[in-house]
Amino acid sequence: MSPVVFVTRPIPDNGVRLLVDAFGEENVVVSKNDCPISREDLLAGVVGKDALLPILTDTIDAAVMDAAGPSLKVIANYAVGYNNIDVDAATERGIAVTNTPGVLTDTTADLAWSLLMTAGRRIGESERYLRAGRWQSWGPQLMLGTDIHGKTLGIFGMGRIGQAMARRAQGFGMRVIYTDANRLDALSEKALQATKVDIRTLLSESDFISIHCPLLPETTYAFGAEEFRAMKPTACLINTSRGPVVDEAALANALRTGEIFAAGLDVYEEEPAIHPGLMACENAVLVPHIGSATVETRGKMSEMAAANIVAVIKGETPPNCVNPEVLG
Ligand code: GLV
Ligand code: GLV
Repeated sequence: MSPVVFVTRPIPDNGVRLLVDAFGEENVVVSKNDCPISREDLLAGVVGKDALLPILTDTIDAAVMDAAGPSLKVIANYAVGYNNIDVDAATERGIAVTNTPGVLTDTTADLAWSLLMTAGRRIGESERYLRAGRWQSWGPQLMLGTDIHGKTLGIFGMGRIGQAMARRAQGFGMRVIYTDANRLDALSEKALQATKVDIRTLLSESDFISIHCPLLPETTYAFGAEEFRAMKPTACLINTSRGPVVDEAALANALRTGEIFAAGLDVYEEEPAIHPGLMACENAVLVPHIGSATVETRGKMSEMAAANIVAVIKGETPPNCVNPEVLG
């Protein structure tokens, strides 16, 4: 019997074509509806499948793996972040988990940079003001934001995306400091002109802080009331990683009281719900988890997820396995 793949939501065509070429049209099942799959449909859809291609809003836990049964060999997440998958449960069952790193690095850094500029220069607020017909005249004190060039950028999590963010900062003559569990090698630090500091220094010296860590127990609520108090009142916080790294209620409070200047967010604690306190803040720039959302990058992610599946099913080493210990 030919292996069967289940794709939980329509994705760009090129990846689906790779799967169809490898396994045949009848063996590639793509969920029909362009909306998050229900738990019930997910549990029913995986039964007897050899490969699962979920998106980041699908919770892939032991129950899903057990519903699939022993045929399931690979879970190919359509994302770089894989906090939606119980990797330990997959490893116990000998199931490979793969993700899509690398292809979305610059695209996500571009979005983080857009949020940084939008927050600093009050672009969202300015546009709402103009569109509401409230603009009466040029004003010496109208919509004053904060400079970006020459300021200090603090990067929380210096992985691929954090480093891409640091590269962009050079064009703006910024000083770059960062925190991370690991220190970059000396050559990379030099090339990026980035200095590793402790969290206290990052909080107190940064004019912009951009978050680029994965969601882990130790990064959950890494930014809360205490951290906002330690930041400059002129500082902006940017988050394109995962929502629960930031305590949204505390952030809304810090924005409302002027403890920090502004925030640019792509991710939220309870997507797609947005904390009402954030919704009420003019100085919060809020976009709907579009970090990797370009035609080019979503296409590459589609191919990459498919290539990971094809490799595992063929008994080859998938390009992006996060639990390589299962590969025999
Ligand atoms: C997007 O958030 C991703 O992890 O790919
Ligand atoms: C993701 O690609 C990261 O390591 O930042």
